[in-house]
Amino acid sequence: MLTVTIISQKGGAGKTTLAIHLAVAACAAGLPTVIVDTDPQATASRWGKWRNGADPDVIDCASHSLLPDKLAALDQAGAAFAVIDTPPAADIMAREACRAASLLLLPCRPRAFDLDAIRTTAELAKASGKPAFVVFMAGPPRAGVLYPEAEGVVRQIGLEVAPVMLPERAAFHHSVAEGKAAGETEPNGKAAADVARLWKWVGKQANVIPRKHASKVA
Ligand SMILES: Nc1ncnc2c1ncn2[C@@H]1O[C@H](COP(=O)(O)OP(=O)(O)OP(=O)(O)O)[C@@H](O)[C@H]1O
Ligand SMILES: [Mg+2]
Repeated sequence: MLTVTIISQKGGAGKTTLAIHLAVAACAAGLPTVIVDTDPQATASRWGKWRNGADPDVIDCASHSLLPDKLAALDQAGAAFAVIDTPPAADIMAREACRAASLLLLPCRPRAFDLDAIRTTAELAKASGKPAFVVFMAGPPRAGVLYPEAEGVVRQIGLEVAPVMLPERAAFHHSVAEGKAAGETEPNGKAAADVARLWKWVGKQANVIPRKHASKVA
């Protein structure tokens, strides 16, 4: 089971938005997918309820000590892709979620305060030894020197930047308010295209999309 953990100690960085959109993209590509919501705020779980039973399943796991067993059970039950959404804290839950991951994604707004605040999250990611990438979230879709500068800061911190971002688009917040993802409310929109590119990159990065599914994301 490919397990992608989304971490950022900063509140509102875009963790749940990223988790939901990746999970819906994975479902659309035919992978049995689950979101594991380890955040006591339970945002992803509420979104899951608004979906009235549509995939992906959203599983609560508020206790870090239960996480390994829950993931093992999901794997046994045939899940191919798990996205772990985490609370806004670099605490024991985030550490456990990193330990379980094949790949770490660190959502971050491309802004000075946000970039400064990812240092603690970056330390956690580096300590885990797992492949880790910053994903720029909710920045301007076109922004001249902003992204190269932000990328420079991330590299100084010792992390890589994912080549795909999810910039500020209304579809990312409108869709989730309806218990959907952007690709479900506006399948031909720019947000859907961003997510498709991100999913394709995640699949390649983790090198785990089974051959039979690969054509669906190419
Ligand atoms: N790319 C984007 N375009 C537009 N809005 C976005 C984007 N990414 C995130 N948002 C909005 O930013 C806000 C915070 O996002 P989100 O809830 O995903 O962050 P979070 O890191 O999970 O927050 P928390 O730390 O509280 O769990 C939400 O209102 C969300 O809709
Ligand atoms: Mg959240």
